[in-house]
Amino acid sequence: MAKSTTTFSCTACGASFNKWSGRCDGCGEWNSIQQDKGISSGPPSKSLGGKRGATIQLSDLSTEEAPPPRSHSGITELDRVLGGGLVPASAILVGGDPGIGKSTLLLQAAAHFAKNGIKTIYVSGEEASAQVRMRAQRLGLADAPVKLAAETNLRDILTMLDAEKPQLAIIDSIQTMWADNVESAPGSVSQVRAAAHELTTFAKRKGTSVILVGHVTKDGQIAGPRVVEHMVDTVLYFEGERGHQFRILRSVKNRFGPADEIGVFEMTGRGLAEVTNPSALFLSERGQPSPGSVVFAGIEGTRPVLCELQALVAPSPHSQARRTVVGWDSGRLAMILAVLEARCGIPFAGLDVYLNVAGGMKISEPAADLAVAAAILSAREDVALPAETVVFGEISLSGALRPASQTENRLKEAQKLGFTSAITPSGGKSVGVNGISLNQMSDLTGFVGEIFGAG
Ligand code: TYD
Ligand code: MG
Repeated sequence: MAKSTTTFSCTACGASFNKWSGRCDGCGEWNSIQQDKGISSGPPSKSLGGKRGATIQLSDLSTEEAPPPRSHSGITELDRVLGGGLVPASAILVGGDPGIGKSTLLLQAAAHFAKNGIKTIYVSGEEASAQVRMRAQRLGLADAPVKLAAETNLRDILTMLDAEKPQLAIIDSIQTMWADNVESAPGSVSQVRAAAHELTTFAKRKGTSVILVGHVTKDGQIAGPRVVEHMVDTVLYFEGERGHQFRILRSVKNRFGPADEIGVFEMTGRGLAEVTNPSALFLSERGQPSPGSVVFAGIEGTRPVLCELQALVAPSPHSQARRTVVGWDSGRLAMILAVLEARCGIPFAGLDVYLNVAGGMKISEPAADLAVAAAILSAREDVALPAETVVFGEISLSGALRPASQTENRLKEAQKLGFTSAITPSGGKSVGVNGISLNQMSDLTGFVGEIFGAG
C-alpha cells in the first residue's frame, strides 16, 4: 500500500508534522495545527492525475536584452546599498528594530523617488495618514507627489495597487498586513508569509517594485523564521544603537548587487541625513591616543571604513571573569584571548575583558582580529599604541597572521584621514601607499614583542 503523504503544519511557528495534534510540539501553541492543502499534499504523479503539463519554452543564457534601467532616489547611500538604484519589479525587505528609523527612511526614500518621477504609493498599516503627513511636513517633504494609504487589508491593498499601477509601493509594515483567507492573527508567521508571498508575486507579475518593512523580533529575526527573506530579491537591515545618532543600512542579500554593502546615515531633528564620509564620523569622538584604543581599517562591502575599537581589561571581582562585547562577535573574542594565552603566554584568567566598537558600528570581518588583539593588549599592558596608526589582519589559531583582502583600499582610506603608519601581517601581495609606513609582522608573538615589549 502506498504510504500516505498527508502533512500537517503549525500556523504559528511553521513546524510540520505527519499527524494532527491539539498542541504544537514546536512552539506550544494550542489548536494551531492544520492539514496542508495543495499539490504538496499527495504524491505528485497521483495528485496531478496523470495529465500532461503544458510545454515550457526553454531559453538561452545569452541575451540581446539590455539590463533594466534602474531608478535612482538621489539618496546616494540608499542607491548604493540597493546595488546602484532600484530594479523594476523587485521585492525588497527592510528589517530593523522598532523605533530605529525604518518609517523615516522609507518616507524620505518615497519622497525622493516620487520627486524623480517614479509613481510611488506609501501604505502604512501602523500609522494614520494624518500622522504620516505630519512626519512628511517635519521632514520638509510635504510637497513630494507620494500617494498615501492607511490600510491593513491585503486584498484591498492589492486591488488598489492593481488599479493605480505604481512603479514603487512601500508596505509599512509586513507584520500589520492581514490576509482574510488565512485564519490566524496579523503578525503571525502564516499571515506574514501569506502577505509577503502575495506582494512579491504581485511585484513580479505587474512590474511594481515593492519594499516591505519588517520588524525584527527580540532574537534578531524577522517575524520568527526567516520566511520572508527567501521570498524577496533584496534584504536590507537598518541597524544602530538607540543612544547613538548613526544608522547603518546594510544589504545582507541582494540578487541585483553586492551583499554587505553599507549606507551610513545620521538621525537628526529633520530626519535621516546621509553620511558620505563614515570614517571621519566614526573617528570624530576619538581623543588623544590612550591605552585600549585602536583604529581598525575595515572594509564594508565595497567601501573602506575606519573605526575605533576600545578595550578595557580589569581584575575581576567575580569567580568567573566577564567577557562583554558590543559590535563584534563574542565567540571570536574568546578565540583571540585563547590564542594570546596559548601562543604568547599572556593569561587572562581573573581579568574582565570589555570590547566596544565606537559609534554603534558592527564589525564582522576576521580582518579585525589583529586590531582587537592590539586593543586588548594595549588595555592590559596600559600602553597606548603609536599615534596615527591603523591596524588590520586576521589571526589564525596557530598564532600566525594572515593578510587581509583589499589592503591597498584600507591603506588609502587611512592615508586620506591623516594616518601615517599601519601594522599589518606580512606576506600576500605587497602593496604600499604613499605617506603610510608599513610595520609588517608574520606572527602574533612578534607583534606582542615589538609593540608591547612583552610575551
Ligand atoms: P521611525 O521611523 O518611526 O522608526 P521605525 O519605523 O523603525 O519604528 O523612527 C522613530 C524614531 O526616530 C523616533 O524615536 C524619533 C526619531 N526621529 C528623529 O529623531 N527625527 C526625525 O526627523 C524623525 C521623523 C524621527
Ligand atoms: Mg515605523
